[in-house]
Amino acid sequence: MTTLLRGRLLSFHRAPDNLADTASYLYEEDGGLLVEDGRILKVGSYTDVKAAAPEGAQEVDHRPHLILPGFIDMHVHFPQMQVIASYAANLLEWLNTYTFPEECRFVESAHAARIATHFYDEFLRQGTTTAVAYCSVHKTSADAFFAEAMRRNMLMVGGKVMMDRNAPQGLLDTPQLGYDETRAVIEQWHGKGRNHVAITPRFAITSTPEQMGAAQALAKEFPDLHIQTHLSENHEEIRYTCELYPEAADYTDIYARYGLLGNKTLLGHAIHLSEREADVLSETGSVAVHCPTSNLFLGSGLFPLKALARREKPVRIGVATDIGGGSSYSMLKTMDEAYKIQQLLGERLNPLNSFYRMTRGNAEALSLVDRIGTLEEGTDADLVVLNASATPAMRLRMETVSTLPEELFLLQTLGDDRSVVETYVAGAAMKPQS
Ligand code: GUN
Ligand code: ZN
Repeated sequence: MTTLLRGRLLSFHRAPDNLADTASYLYEEDGGLLVEDGRILKVGSYTDVKAAAPEGAQEVDHRPHLILPGFIDMHVHFPQMQVIASYAANLLEWLNTYTFPEECRFVESAHAARIATHFYDEFLRQGTTTAVAYCSVHKTSADAFFAEAMRRNMLMVGGKVMMDRNAPQGLLDTPQLGYDETRAVIEQWHGKGRNHVAITPRFAITSTPEQMGAAQALAKEFPDLHIQTHLSENHEEIRYTCELYPEAADYTDIYARYGLLGNKTLLGHAIHLSEREADVLSETGSVAVHCPTSNLFLGSGLFPLKALARREKPVRIGVATDIGGGSSYSMLKTMDEAYKIQQLLGERLNPLNSFYRMTRGNAEALSLVDRIGTLEEGTDADLVVLNASATPAMRLRMETVSTLPEELFLLQTLGDDRSVVETYVAGAAMKPQS
């Protein structure tokens, strides 16, 4: 089936240097997007694309709304949908009091399947078409996660968490079991539909050195897979981690010693890095994943996004919700909070850069920009349609908006799922109705 979408198109070619950097993006005021077999066949002005469209192509007119690549969320926890909004003093208390007990429930396939349905409904409601997720330690949770992704034809990255200490018994594997079950998840799901499996040692606190060795073996056997873990989120966590691995120079060095750093490695949080650690991330091409609503909610700290990005040895950066430490599923709200964190650090995060990060930036950080994150021809037609006048307050404010960056900033500051008119997955309209 061929579909012709009409609307205001926005897609980034590269990271915008500043608000005047119009060469960094494509913006078509009256644009057309021809979609066939889940891919973008042609992009340009509506007149040009219409002329190239086959007879009988179904036309959907989204004017005056914006059509962007679907949002990408680089770090979420699939089993934490019922952990969001839990009242805790800090990360370790939050994990032990709420998160670990909740994740124990995912040993039950029926529970995992039920939450998977809600999980994808919620992400599609928010305009997010790709997420990078931690499942629980149980293979059942990864099975539910990937089965539902396939059903919806979504490009998802996820992994069975490996954890063999410092958590309740119901949430522990062993070095061998973590290895075997991760292998089984890879064999069963990687490359099926649009699924990508990630090697997922939760963090150094919950993995023994033997299990880190097992993760290293998997990384060697499957060098193309993503690796995800957590790094330097909270001062107490850092202190305890370094006690557990006294031979390592610092937290980052633990992962380096087990061969877990590289350009497919995604490190959640990475807030409190030394210069040495930032150098190591830069040199290995590892990605620091910023989770602003979580960092504020758990009181973890202020991630120096701008400072890390402008270093002589820049650190690659992704952005994410970190559900359920995070407090919103919305990537718009996520960048609103990211903006405020930079404000507190005396830095500016401009709205073009924010929208770049939610789309192409995260696709680059995932090394998946050939498939997602842009409106380029030949890539997958994962899209979000946004309305900057979705609520009375937004409509009123829009009366005084005259530029694209102003409109984007308004969307980021006041927008949420009400601003998402439609979400397309591989060309199919998928936003849940309620
Ligand atoms: N560190 C280890 N596990 C977690 C988790 O589930 N959430 C957050 N925010 N940090 C973690
Ligand atoms: Zn996390």
